[in-house]
Amino acid sequence: MADSKDQKQQDTMEKIVSLCKRRGFIFQSSEIYGGINGFWDYGPLGSELKRNVKDLWWRSMTQEREDVAGLDATIILHPKVWEASGHTSTFSDPMVDCLLSKKRFRADQINPLSGTAWFWTGATDAESDKVCNDKFSMLQLPGKDANWVRKGATQFYKARGLQAPVLQGETTEQVTNTTRYNEENGSLLTEPRAFNLMFKTYVGPVESNDNVAYLRPETAQAIFTEFKNICEVSRKAIPFGICQIGKAFRNEINPRNFTFRSREFEQMELEFFIRPDEVAAQFGEVPDGEAESEPQPNWGWKAWHLYWLRKRLEWYASIGLTSENLELYWQKPEELAHYARATVDILFKFPFGTQELEGIAARGNFDLSQHQKFSGKSMEYFDESAKAKYIPHVIEPSAGVDRMVLALICHAYHEEEVTDEKGKTETRIVMKFHPRVAPIKVGVFPLLKNKPALVAKAREVLAMLRPYMTVFYDEAGAIGRRYRRQDEAGTPFGVTIDFDTLGENEDPSLKDTVTLRERDSMKQVRVKIDDLLHLLLKKINS
Ligand code: GAP
Repeated sequence: MADSKDQKQQDTMEKIVSLCKRRGFIFQSSEIYGGINGFWDYGPLGSELKRNVKDLWWRSMTQEREDVAGLDATIILHPKVWEASGHTSTFSDPMVDCLLSKKRFRADQINPLSGTAWFWTGATDAESDKVCNDKFSMLQLPGKDANWVRKGATQFYKARGLQAPVLQGETTEQVTNTTRYNEENGSLLTEPRAFNLMFKTYVGPVESNDNVAYLRPETAQAIFTEFKNICEVSRKAIPFGICQIGKAFRNEINPRNFTFRSREFEQMELEFFIRPDEVAAQFGEVPDGEAESEPQPNWGWKAWHLYWLRKRLEWYASIGLTSENLELYWQKPEELAHYARATVDILFKFPFGTQELEGIAARGNFDLSQHQKFSGKSMEYFDESAKAKYIPHVIEPSAGVDRMVLALICHAYHEEEVTDEKGKTETRIVMKFHPRVAPIKVGVFPLLKNKPALVAKAREVLAMLRPYMTVFYDEAGAIGRRYRRQDEAGTPFGVTIDFDTLGENEDPSLKDTVTLRERDSMKQVRVKIDDLLHLLLKKINS
């Protein structure tokens, strides 16, 4: 049962990846050169979708609030930033290398194996006096015999310079649930070693240790380094936040699940600075949870944490992702990052599993304290209303744009059986994006392309709508096929200009009306051209 479910989910994912390429949502980067693992390009529809997600986030996080300011900082920061944040020393994954294929794996993602393990103490060369005393081991994989195992060992010693290795000191042992071997070829793996995920580069023409810099692995740190500047220029008083959208880079060992784990991606992060609990207590008892729906001066980190969780869930609902598709995961104390007091992850039910879209962390005052320590510059803030000086604490909702886009694509993907007017049944692929995020809001179609009056009217309608929304004009092929193309692109509305619009049919009341087709219900209604813009804007934003 589980297998067929897994297969179905894998099939769904394959269909989604194929649609993304076919319709121009997402392509593999540098595809003509065979692609580059972990890097993705957004095509015409994908870039619109991504832009909508970022614009909606930015709007709700800054423009619609009085207590958040924006920032657009550089990708390369002073390397000390990463020492202060802990990324230079701790931003790493434990890695193992295959001693035969040299492939690298994350140690915590190795599947446990059982079977006969073979060991050799070394090998001598039948064609010279050479000796190699390196120990080696192979796990005999299911269906493989002793010859296969010895062949692997021979290959290992050949790679160490022996022309005709004669294996020495052979022993065997039964092992269970070991993670020391590569399941692809049975070879022994190295001991786990920490592998830093930051991409390294050099600033200036000289490639020396003094010039090392890193592509930022998160956007958050620049917010902390600009905290004082923004405090001064924005004249905002704590509690207030700074947010940023931008690229982040991580040399992920195992990029996978399409864009879900990429090496280059975008983040949308807010650092919301708050009073330490002991300062908030001056304004009344600090609540243990979110006491009132709107922020209060006595809120401590717990209330703010819950507040931001609520705000973020409201935002997800506004783009069509609700509790039906999302799950919350409160990290256990032993899972928390060293700086975090609490973290709640917002997860989405992807076809490949329920996985993180966003983390909302209560980071204490770790980051600002670290930057104060490493830069020697004060990060203290004087709170006029509390008459207190302190290093602010922070709540951080941190979301990935690419994961959000992938979640929206997976959520939108539908296959439906539909029957046309001639009774023929076919499968309709339809991307049911919320109109707010849909890359194109409306398709405009003249019924026939060889009737100049229809084309002219359609172009008129197009010009009327274009300043207010993304529109797409299509005159090629049968109208049903044009609708299907827009269904696959996720366009929520289609407007068709026909002979009724021109007043050339029997019912004169239909002159200057168009057919408005809704993507999900496929229902069509007649609408006056004069009412069209208002109606569409209302539907898109409702
Ligand atoms: N400043 C905190 C921070 O960076 P994170 O959990 O490492 O926290 C935040 O990243 C979000 O960034 C994640 O929830 C995810 O949406 C996105 N993200 C992280 N690594 C990613 C990757 N390799 N590919 C795509 N998105 C990623």
